[in-house]
Amino acid sequence: MPTENRLQGKVAIITGAASGIGAAAVDLFTEQGARVVACDVPGSALEQRHGDNPSAVTVAKDLTDEDAPQAVVDAAIAAFGRLDILFNNAGIAPYDPYLEQQPGTWERVIAVNVTAVNRLTLAAVPHLRQSGAGRVINTGSVASQMAAASLSAYVVSKHAVAGLTKQQALELGPLGITANYVQPGFIVTGMTERYVKTAPPGEIDYWRNKTTVGRLGEAIDVANAALFLAQDAASFINGTGIRVDGGATMKM
Ligand SMILES: NC(=O)c1ccc[n+]([C@@H]2O[C@H](COP(=O)([O-])OP(=O)(O)OC[C@H]3O[C@@H](n4cnc5c(N)ncnc54)[C@H](O)[C@@H]3O)[C@@H](O)[C@H]2O)c1
Repeated sequence: MPTENRLQGKVAIITGAASGIGAAAVDLFTEQGARVVACDVPGSALEQRHGDNPSAVTVAKDLTDEDAPQAVVDAAIAAFGRLDILFNNAGIAPYDPYLEQQPGTWERVIAVNVTAVNRLTLAAVPHLRQSGAGRVINTGSVASQMAAASLSAYVVSKHAVAGLTKQQALELGPLGITANYVQPGFIVTGMTERYVKTAPPGEIDYWRNKTTVGRLGEAIDVANAALFLAQDAASFINGTGIRVDGGATMKM
């Protein structure tokens, strides 16, 4: 299998593209020949991060806005005339212990991590089905199948991403669109960097040692899994979650 230009001719939408996994995916997908619509919230580092990339256009939109899904899809069609890949990657993970839930946290987490994923996918489907090799790739988490301390709404939302993806795989498969999800473990990104910098001595070692490969994850590790799912060769993979956690969650 060729290792270069694996996305030649493809057009992708990548959300959460200003930082972390989404930003790495924009770099990787365009290196592999894709043209990309990079989406993140207004005021994010989207333009600084990707303004120099000739294969990317940026769309500053909060994906929970009523008009956002259609606006993002319209931007892809206006810029590139087609759509093959939707990487629903944007997400938030606010501190949220189950017995100390703050008003609004649950609603906001579900709105960003689940409802926006569903709405953007529905807006994209008419174009993805014309692709002939349409791909929906959602970002779940190891918290799509496990609980996590102080992240109750997040855990619920990422379990929902798993269920949503399976339903998409069921109902979009006949339209020539596959749907899968990546499940990052502990990855050093904007979401975790403050914790990485401020965690008490030894705590980061705990996360490093939970893997069996002796390191924390990097954004590119997850972007590579998304690339694998995006390419034509992955056409028979459907409804599956791929854990990208260095082996952390397969052992007791
Ligand atoms: N970092 C980890 O350890 C880890 C682990 C498991 C899953 N994940 C998931 O990976 C995905 C990417 O996160 P990351 O780690 O790269 O974090 P990150 O904070 O670096 O990037 C997330 C991006 O999503 C954007 N975003 C948030 N809300 C948005 C909205 N309403 N509209 C548009 N964009 C929005 C943010 O502005 C940010 O740029 C998320 O879905 C996250 O839940 C991360």
